[in-house]
Amino acid sequence: MIRNKFFKTGKEFLGVEFPIICGAMTWVSGPQLVSAVSNAGGFGVLAGGNAPVEILKEQILETQKLTNKPFGVNLITIAPNYSGQLELIAEMNLPFVIFAGSFPKKKEVQIAKESGAKVLCFASTKSIADTMIRYGADALILEGMEAGGHVGHVTTVVLLQQVLFEVSHHIPVFVGGGIGTGKLSAHLLMMGAAGIQLGTRFAVAKESQVHPKFKEKIIKANARDAVSTPQFDSRLPVVAVRAIHNKSHDEFSKLQFNLLRQLDKNEISRYEAQMQVENFWVGSLKNAVINGDIEHGSLMAGQTAGLVTKEQSVREIIEEMIDDIEKEFKDTKEKLFF
Ligand SMILES: Cc1cc2nc3c(=O)[nH]c(=O)nc-3n(C[C@H](O)[C@H](O)[C@H](O)COP(=O)(O)O)c2cc1C
Repeated sequence: MIRNKFFKTGKEFLGVEFPIICGAMTWVSGPQLVSAVSNAGGFGVLAGGNAPVEILKEQILETQKLTNKPFGVNLITIAPNYSGQLELIAEMNLPFVIFAGSFPKKKEVQIAKESGAKVLCFASTKSIADTMIRYGADALILEGMEAGGHVGHVTTVVLLQQVLFEVSHHIPVFVGGGIGTGKLSAHLLMMGAAGIQLGTRFAVAKESQVHPKFKEKIIKANARDAVSTPQFDSRLPVVAVRAIHNKSHDEFSKLQFNLLRQLDKNEISRYEAQMQVENFWVGSLKNAVINGDIEHGSLMAGQTAGLVTKEQSVREIIEEMIDDIEKEFKDTKEKLFF
């Protein structure tokens, strides 16, 4: 099978049948979704998110009960419980740690590695990729701005040329952000990717606890409905998040314009204005995922929302991806050699 050649690096690195990662999604990637992905031959990743250390520990133990296949734990370096979560991971000697959010310190990468974990780090720019390799990352996840959730500002296509083509012969590079089909995945693997990371498509899976109203929004969305939160002025920094546009986006823009007017007139301190911007989205992802508040919650999803047309089981998603990858390998071989 042609796929053996192109799956080899990712399969061996992750210890899975198919090098397809379901990226961690805060409030979404709990034991149920993660174990379903790993049991179907992919690689599930538990989201550390803002979870208190004890809750994360329970979730890890629960996932280990539900699957004996490998899975990873994702830590957000700017989360309030990050240091405690990292200590926990090291104590539990888990096999895979994925650092997300901003990027980890060199010492933190070393702590994870010394505990026996393989470390995967996100890279949303070429310079972050270089830094993470220098810090000792065992693999990279290149993620373009098309992705759902917190995003950078560089497209997957540019990152492929700046990073994948340059470093994939030294270190496994997984690619995410904007991938919804096996057909594209096949070409990314042929370009040198060790594997593929998807988020949005799995958020709609039957095993995902995303509220049905939120799932329906993703299924009905066009690619262009998944927008990144704008920043209008450097005095009010905004962490970009890609989500399906709803009322909250308009309210967030209005808030920023009002605060900028107040700042111009010295009616508010910059700190106070920045706190209002920061606090605006607090709790909004949980509100969307758990409560199904599609007007005011944060409907985090990538532009692949435009490619997701139905709810499927995790196994169906993975099998469809693998069939399409295999078909594309064959078609490409025929195109090239006949
Ligand atoms: C609802 C949601 C929550 C997410 N939360 C996280 C997170 O906690 N940590 C993380 O590293 N990435 C997070 N992501 C990003 C995904 O893991 C994945 O990398 C991304 O969705 C891939 O792009 P795609 O949406 O185009 O498939 C999130 C994405 C979504 C849609």
